[in-house]
Amino acid sequence: MPVPGPGYSITVRLEAPPSASAAGDLTSAVGRAGGVITAFDVVESHNDRVVIDLTCNALSANHAKDITDTLETLPGIVVRKVSDRTFLVHLGGKIEIASKVPLRNRDDLSRAYTPGVARVCEAIAKNPDDARRLTIKRNTVAVVTDGSAVLGLGNLGPAAALPVMEGKAALFKKFAGVDAWPVCLDTQDTEEIIRAVELIAPVYGGINLEDISAPRCFEIEARLREKLDIPVFHDDQHGTAIVVVAALRNALRVVKKDIKDCRITVCGVGAAGSAIIRLLQAQEPGDIIAVDVDGIVHRDRPGLDSNLKSIAASTNKDNQAGRLHDALVGSDVFIGVSAPNLFGAEQVATMAKDAIVFALANPDPEIDPMEAQQHAAVVATGRSDFPNQINNVLAFPGVFRGLLDAHARTITDAMLLAAAQAIADVVDGDRLNASFIVPSVFDNTVAPAVAEAVRKAATS
Ligand SMILES: NC(=O)c1ccc[n+]([C@@H]2O[C@H](COP(=O)([O-])OP(=O)(O)OC[C@H]3O[C@@H](n4cnc5c(N)ncnc54)[C@H](O)[C@@H]3O)[C@@H](O)[C@H]2O)c1
Repeated sequence: MPVPGPGYSITVRLEAPPSASAAGDLTSAVGRAGGVITAFDVVESHNDRVVIDLTCNALSANHAKDITDTLETLPGIVVRKVSDRTFLVHLGGKIEIASKVPLRNRDDLSRAYTPGVARVCEAIAKNPDDARRLTIKRNTVAVVTDGSAVLGLGNLGPAAALPVMEGKAALFKKFAGVDAWPVCLDTQDTEEIIRAVELIAPVYGGINLEDISAPRCFEIEARLREKLDIPVFHDDQHGTAIVVVAALRNALRVVKKDIKDCRITVCGVGAAGSAIIRLLQAQEPGDIIAVDVDGIVHRDRPGLDSNLKSIAASTNKDNQAGRLHDALVGSDVFIGVSAPNLFGAEQVATMAKDAIVFALANPDPEIDPMEAQQHAAVVATGRSDFPNQINNVLAFPGVFRGLLDAHARTITDAMLLAAAQAIADVVDGDRLNASFIVPSVFDNTVAPAVAEAVRKAATS
């Protein structure tokens, strides 16, 4: 059941009579309409009226409108203005550039800029590796998108993707001190994207690909990894895979099972699912059954593309065919990165004893977590209003911190697994239980632990 949250928070500026009952009338009206009041501020007071900023959380944009309409029907109330607090946060963008050096006088200017800077340029021309020491390349990552798969919203294009990329950059800075900058490309052509990233690469110490749709994202990442001498990481693939592997590691500790004995159903073989399968394979699970919109992926299924062919070749030992419900029977683990509402409690009942269910489709999971809990021992989702939130924020800031600190030129599965293990290990034995298999996204020990693990793996 969704609850009113800060993602749909409004501030309604209204005039009310200065009576003792006005405040009660307003708060009851919001409550009746299903909103949750988070602030009540009198901003002006007069003999005949008060002006109030009433802030409340709603369920959706339509629900926010319903709340405002309800307030407007109250006698003596005049709604002056409604501000959507989410839009207010985005006014003028969410990040900025700040100078790290003082520019107070001619002296400062001569060193930070001309003529002094010329000698630094010449030093880098002579020794290009010095760019990592003497420029922003040391600490800067490009967050590159073509806007083709923005959140769960689809192909919104590069400009509409910018608020997400700005948010990502803000998270990089907040959690790991990494300077990330959005690069939203006005093309969805694979060759043009590869060429554009190649052309901008000299500025950056790493490339974080974001919200680029499958299957193009696989080729773009693979080709850029070949061409560039800095790490290229598609967060929708590997960030997700790292956190899923970390969460699974701890969930298996809770139910006391070894991954080598587990049958794992992975539903969704797009960007996230393919990377999850590949990282799980590095840990030699008993078997993986991959399922997509056309059913179980098996070697005899017609029309497999190259990604699905390679997954069919390395999973599904018995070459089982069928649908998701068939795959679930006897599975120890379900990992969903696919679509909402695909199964119910009765299918979880067909899974092995002490089943683990990660239903990660956003915003609505493959199964309602409350239903999953009826038969599963551990349940996780991508949602913030339920325990065990699988959130990429646990991975990408620390991963890039570690890569930049190691001056890494590539990224390997060993580094991804080291990151997963570091996240899992933050939840020590005393705190580990079925409702706490991953640390909170606000646990500030996570990013340094991930960074150190990745740095070590990159330099060993
Ligand atoms: N941390 C997280 O919680 C997290 C991280 C990544 C992705 N996700 C979610 O996972 C989902 C997939 O993301 P993606 O980027 O991999 O998308 P994608 O479009 O690349 O892949 C989607 C996959 O789901 C499959 N699919 C679609 N409908 C299906 C159905 N009815 N039955 C079975 N399979 C079905 C498709 O065939 C495809 O393989 C999204 O909802 C996304 O929000 C969550």
